[in-house]
Amino acid sequence: MKNNRIVIFDTTLRDGEQCPGASMNLREKLEVARQLARLQVDVIEAGFPVISEGDFTSVQTIAREVKGPYIAGLARCVPKDIEAAGAAIKPAGKRGRIHVFLATSKIHREFKLGKPQDEIVRLAVEGVKLARSFVDNVEFSPEDGSRTEPEFLVRVCKAVIAAGATTVNIPDTVGWAMPEQFGELIARLYQVVPEFQSGAAVISVHCHNDLGLAVANSLAAVRAGARQVECTINGIGERAGNASLEEVVMALKTRADYFAGVDCGVNTREIVKSSRLVSRMCGLLVQRSKAIVGENAFAHASGIHQDGVLKKRETYEIMDPEEVGWGATELPLTKHSGRAAVASRLKTLGFKLTEGDVAAIFARFKDIGDKKKFVYDDDLAALAGGHITEVPETWSLDYLGVSSGTQMVPTATVRLRHIVKENAGKEIEVMQDAGTGDGPVDAALKAIDRLTKTHGTLMDYSLRAASKGKDALGEVTVKVDFGDRLLVPGKGASTDIVEASARAYLNAVNRYLISGKEPKVSSEP
Ligand code: KIV
Ligand code: ZN
Repeated sequence: MKNNRIVIFDTTLRDGEQCPGASMNLREKLEVARQLARLQVDVIEAGFPVISEGDFTSVQTIAREVKGPYIAGLARCVPKDIEAAGAAIKPAGKRGRIHVFLATSKIHREFKLGKPQDEIVRLAVEGVKLARSFVDNVEFSPEDGSRTEPEFLVRVCKAVIAAGATTVNIPDTVGWAMPEQFGELIARLYQVVPEFQSGAAVISVHCHNDLGLAVANSLAAVRAGARQVECTINGIGERAGNASLEEVVMALKTRADYFAGVDCGVNTREIVKSSRLVSRMCGLLVQRSKAIVGENAFAHASGIHQDGVLKKRETYEIMDPEEVGWGATELPLTKHSGRAAVASRLKTLGFKLTEGDVAAIFARFKDIGDKKKFVYDDDLAALAGGHITEVPETWSLDYLGVSSGTQMVPTATVRLRHIVKENAGKEIEVMQDAGTGDGPVDAALKAIDRLTKTHGTLMDYSLRAASKGKDALGEVTVKVDFGDRLLVPGKGASTDIVEASARAYLNAVNRYLISGKEPKVSSEP
């Protein structure tokens, strides 16, 4: 009989972070990992340790600090990768997992690896054995599994399980599979590999969304016997993304009848919070009509629907919004709220902050509290988001004045504080510049460029209201190219959207300046 527990393997911090423009730093990853633990996912794939020192440190820190889920590190079937993954996940002890992968499809074997089938099997087996010398919990992924000849895939699965793999994950790496076909493939593997039936090894799936079928394929696989699903919050990931965790989990829960009672351990009430945190931390907005977590997911526009919902919610709602964390009542803070109240609310929101962070956020809170009547949780989270950057504020905004209108040339005056020397001999210089632009944001950013002696091209700019009301905080996210074709993210929030833009841009400048000290190697496996 099939076991009914579905393992939720979250790869937001690994495959999700491979999404162009979604990179996060250590502090941001740690906040996301802590939230994933509150969401009660079973496994957090925290990164690809061999890729860079930064990735190694994030996996190691998450393995040390985040309790609850298993912590996995990705590795190619190459000793240096596996050794790095083994070292990075070590602090997780028995909760550590090494995830090794190697491409198995004909096209990858011939054109990418130049290796015959026998060699692929040998390398996969060696990789798994080496990983087992570090941990008992080893996952193997035959990359491009869905396009691999089924007979060969069976051979690979049996060989890696014999070598010690405890989970075998079948990736639809390029999002090529169709649900029925993918389900049949998983059913076949389930039938011919005895360890999948006995539960000695777990069969997993990892679906990409190139044809918009990642969730459908994952669910078809569950029906066919898959007992681990790999997914990401908001479906972020390489190219068109991965299967979205919230959709997979809520489909399993809402249609438990169809899935014959399979279950997962996710605390669904943490879903919306997780979605917002990930969106904020990696600077990728969630589309309004996105299932479960989009702003419109439970908004009924037509009169007939509204009437129906008022009479009986279930007429037009298949899920209770509160079940996924929408609509939790909140008591907004005001300018009269003290530091302890702000600190306690930040803690409730899930942020783990130092005294220094709280002091800095409280100063901004006071500033904002003077301008708007209520400071909602989302406003506060937006302010905190700007501080979880772990980027030293080499340049910070001291003053901004703008004038613009329909009949005048927009101008901006910007005064910045520049930390020239750190710590005891801390030296700060204050510099000012003014200029024009085709709008107030352009004028302000040009002045920042001149003062900081950088030259950034704004590749992406988005503005959204952090909370509700005309006086909501504007939250700006930018992606800036400083000349080396890397997109440097930045974020800022304020009731004034020009100020929020200047803060976001300065945040990118500061990130760019420290990134010079820690170059990141390409993440191409
Ligand atoms: O898409 C893929 O094949 C992957 C593997 C590393 C599992 O991300
Ligand atoms: Zn992937």
